[in-house]
Amino acid sequence: MCGIVGYTGSQEAIQVVLDGLRRLEYRGYDSAGVAVLSEGPLRVAKKAGKLSNLEKEVVAAADGFTGTTGIGHTRWATHGGPTDRNAHPHMSADGRVAVIHNGIIENFAKLRASLESSGIEFTSDTDTECVAHLLALELTAAGGDLAEAMRLVCRRLEGAFTLLAVDTGTPGKVVGARRNSPLVVGRGQGENFLASDVSAFIAHTRDAIELGQDQVVLITADSIEITDFLGVPAQGRDFHVDWDLSAAEKGGHDWFMLKEIGEQPHAVDATLLGRVGEHGEILLDEVRLTDQDLRDVDKIFIIACGTAYHAGLVAKYAIEHWTRIPCEVELASEFRYRDPVLDRSTLVIAVSQSGETMDTLMALRHAKEQKARVLAICNTNGSTIPRESDAVLYTHGGPEIAVASTKAFLTQLAACFLVGLHLAQVRGVKYADEVGAVVDQLRAMPAAIAQVLSTMDDVRALARSLAHQKTFIFLGRHVGYPVALEGALKLKELAYVHAEGFAAGEMKHGPIAVIEEGTPVVCVVPSPAGRGVLHDKIVSNIQEVRARGAYTIVIAEEGDEAVVPYANHLIRVPRTPTLLAPFVTTVPLQVLAAEIADALGHDVDQPRNLAKSVTVE
Ligand code: M6R
Repeated sequence: MCGIVGYTGSQEAIQVVLDGLRRLEYRGYDSAGVAVLSEGPLRVAKKAGKLSNLEKEVVAAADGFTGTTGIGHTRWATHGGPTDRNAHPHMSADGRVAVIHNGIIENFAKLRASLESSGIEFTSDTDTECVAHLLALELTAAGGDLAEAMRLVCRRLEGAFTLLAVDTGTPGKVVGARRNSPLVVGRGQGENFLASDVSAFIAHTRDAIELGQDQVVLITADSIEITDFLGVPAQGRDFHVDWDLSAAEKGGHDWFMLKEIGEQPHAVDATLLGRVGEHGEILLDEVRLTDQDLRDVDKIFIIACGTAYHAGLVAKYAIEHWTRIPCEVELASEFRYRDPVLDRSTLVIAVSQSGETMDTLMALRHAKEQKARVLAICNTNGSTIPRESDAVLYTHGGPEIAVASTKAFLTQLAACFLVGLHLAQVRGVKYADEVGAVVDQLRAMPAAIAQVLSTMDDVRALARSLAHQKTFIFLGRHVGYPVALEGALKLKELAYVHAEGFAAGEMKHGPIAVIEEGTPVVCVVPSPAGRGVLHDKIVSNIQEVRARGAYTIVIAEEGDEAVVPYANHLIRVPRTPTLLAPFVTTVPLQVLAAEIADALGHDVDQPRNLAKSVTVE
């Protein structure tokens, strides 16, 4: 969601900040703004819409935005619409302080009422503006000490926030604070950075510090001081970013999403690499769980949102099959509200690409309060979900910039499968050689995905021919069912058309009524070799929809001739063990959605109304 950048050093801050904002665009936003500390008054510009609107404003400014300390923000509207006046930064009434904010200040109405009763006039509808006014007031109380003023303010705030602020009375410094929302420090040579995530400063440094919960940081060009909200010196967690700028750039593709689809063989490979120890054990990145903890597990919950939830749905089939432990998959946003039965012997697996999804984070916290063990599967080092979990398995997918998840899905599958195999082995349900055999099958997946990718021209042509359609249905059974859900989600979020995924057997219980002449129905067919009965059943389901006029697009493995008579369009994928089939069957659906969106003239990487990192509940 909101993207935050702060800089102080010897470069022109406006360039560094705008460049950082550009790299955070993928998070999703609807307005943007900057503030630069110059010799005179604070220079502030903010505009609704794309970053280019802001850049025009900055370029048009007669004196430019000269100065080596600044902050910048891309805003995804929560309190107050996406307008110029609600865009960040927000300034104190005396014009001394500029503040940017990610999150929601829950007690803002009370704070605003009290500030207004003391005569302060608000110029926006945001919750953030009260922080700017409070900071100016506390600066006086703190004798001009910016970090202390920020600490005093934070102690009065409730909710989730990452805040950055600059003050004309404190040149060369940027102060930041965080609670329940991410903030990382980039450690440079004679310059330092603050940002929502490392991609904002990766062009300048790969050495970073992840700020802990309830911490305040003050950066100058040569120093980084961290304290808690009471002023007690504190430490963040140092880490080195293992990908570089080129990984975050489009690499010749029109869209990040296409680049990321193409990176899937490598991403899955990297996620599997070095994960299995010599005794078949899975090598987790950070483990605060013992083998005994894992042996004690009698129930598993997978909690996640969106695409990560679909990965969890696939994983359930494998985990229950391999471990014989009951596994439930829950939408993180629903989890804690239904009061799930959890205890010390429950393992909760929190799956999140960004590691910042608030619904997943809150579900994780609920699980921990009930004493459950939490294992995170995450792609983002330095994010909150892994930090708050008992163990972490990072998916080494590299940065995913496009809002639509692609390589995150496949790497989450790989990671979930590894966890399932490890549990099975620790509990004695599978021997090392059995685990090894499945790991070998997993290791064959990157080549299989690459093979699918090499045949996608046909899918692109199909997509263009279907771009005018208003409704799409996706059908699957077994692990093909979550794939159908994922295919429908991709199409909805990118093409803005009505798309629904169904368990194929459910069609006859109602949904089949929506089929009309020409309705495209995408059918994900399981291998006839692996689950013959399943295969035969879905072939019947395909016939049922075709008999009602559907235009059937059938995804089936090579050599499956039984589907041929019922397919208006056939997409072939390589033969794959049943449980692993989603690695190959999902890929054409990603390409289909991206291509239809492009044909319709939509922004494939940043679909409307959506954010990459959803940091509000
Ligand atoms: O960062 P996360 O994996 O926790 O994100 C979860 C969902 O918001 C995400 O998968 C979303 O559904 C994608 N935009 C779908 O493509």
